[in-house]
Amino acid sequence: MTGSEQRLPRIARKSGPLRGSVRVPGDKSVSHRALILAALAVGETPVSGLLEAGDVLRTAAAMRQLGAHVVRHGAGNWTVHGAGVGGFDQPADVLDFGNSGTGARLTMGAVATTPITVTFTGDASLRRRPMQRVIGPLALFGASADARENGLLPITIRGARHPGPVEHRLQVASAQVKSALLFAALNVPGRSTIIERAATRDHTERMLKAFGAAIEVEERGPETAISVTGHAELRSCPVEVPGDPSSAAFPLTAALIVPESEILLERVMLNPRRTGLIQTLTEMGADIVIRNRRASGGDEIGDVLVRYSRLTGIEVPPERAPAMIDEYPVLAVAAAFAEGRTTMRGLEELRVKESDRLAAVAAGLSANGVVCEERADGLTVEGMGHGVPGGGVVATHMDHRIAMSFLTMGLAAMSPVTVDDGSMIATSFPEFEPLMRSLGAEIAAP
Ligand code: S3P
Repeated sequence: MTGSEQRLPRIARKSGPLRGSVRVPGDKSVSHRALILAALAVGETPVSGLLEAGDVLRTAAAMRQLGAHVVRHGAGNWTVHGAGVGGFDQPADVLDFGNSGTGARLTMGAVATTPITVTFTGDASLRRRPMQRVIGPLALFGASADARENGLLPITIRGARHPGPVEHRLQVASAQVKSALLFAALNVPGRSTIIERAATRDHTERMLKAFGAAIEVEERGPETAISVTGHAELRSCPVEVPGDPSSAAFPLTAALIVPESEILLERVMLNPRRTGLIQTLTEMGADIVIRNRRASGGDEIGDVLVRYSRLTGIEVPPERAPAMIDEYPVLAVAAAFAEGRTTMRGLEELRVKESDRLAAVAAGLSANGVVCEERADGLTVEGMGHGVPGGGVVATHMDHRIAMSFLTMGLAAMSPVTVDDGSMIATSFPEFEPLMRSLGAEIAAP
């Protein structure tokens, strides 16, 4: 479903203390990568804890269309029998990635150096998002792409028949673009190097290592150079998907703003390139304690204990943006309940997510009586302590994180908050409502 076909408005009301212990669903970034890497590997890869949400199911379907044998055995438990590097078949139909920029961009990279022709499309939101950032550098490998004007989907990629190695410095701080190029490099003779100026999430690098790719990561002053020598076979490697910190962000923020709450979020991924929100909220005075920090599947995980806290506005350092890029909408909600002003900068990328998130957040805050200032690359929120009026109807623009952020706001605002469409929540967090209700949140149809 695209969300525009059938809207499902939802309303969140002021709720009693949130209490309990929950497991958030599997990490979306790791889930996409597990399916793609397993599809490129030789042998059978078991995946546990896979996020079974719209976005990831699209990637699973795409991997099947490309010739991998992808089977679901039970909740979160899947196996993928890979086609091997360079082993993808030409799909018989268009690959439709729905709402998922990650699925589309990563798969573009995975097909770009195999001599097949693949057409990509997505829903109305994805068809508005920039793809030149991926197809531009993929052309350096010899792949060609026919896109709609301005590099928009639908796009047909003709994979390079004789790809050559590439050295490329990323023009945008994007883990998706980085990952697409690293996947493309797998089927190239010789060593390709991708250089990033700002550190973005490194799940692809960690997982490529685990699958036996010839990958090297080198810090070069402020930059990181990631080199892949192609034509090394990927060997299947079991993947345990940890809890998604970007989904945990919603119950976490809810517990901070609903008085007397205390919740435990179990086995959340704590990769340092994903924990910017926890760091920022802690600086704002949040009572967040990490318990039982441990290693799991090449990453750090832990249980996150969150208690209601009085928050204070801060200036969020712009260089932290990549480590919390998906969490700014819900941070803006936390900021509305803080005392004083919160300033966020360096956020031009938020304009090209599932929606223009800076505009959507600013409009949602204003609709609920919170004063804010939207700038080209940032947002300032005037905190109201516990006097957030609420009472607004928020336009979600087919964006799951806008929907979940403003439902979170409604749990502590004086009047209920309505979102015009909650259907897109299923793209990343289908259990959002039952999980929030199990903690005591009042979310329902209006
Ligand atoms: C993702 C990277 C981020 C993030 C997206 C998931 C990934 O996008 O916003 O939700 O899995 O690589 P960019 O890399 O484009 O910033």
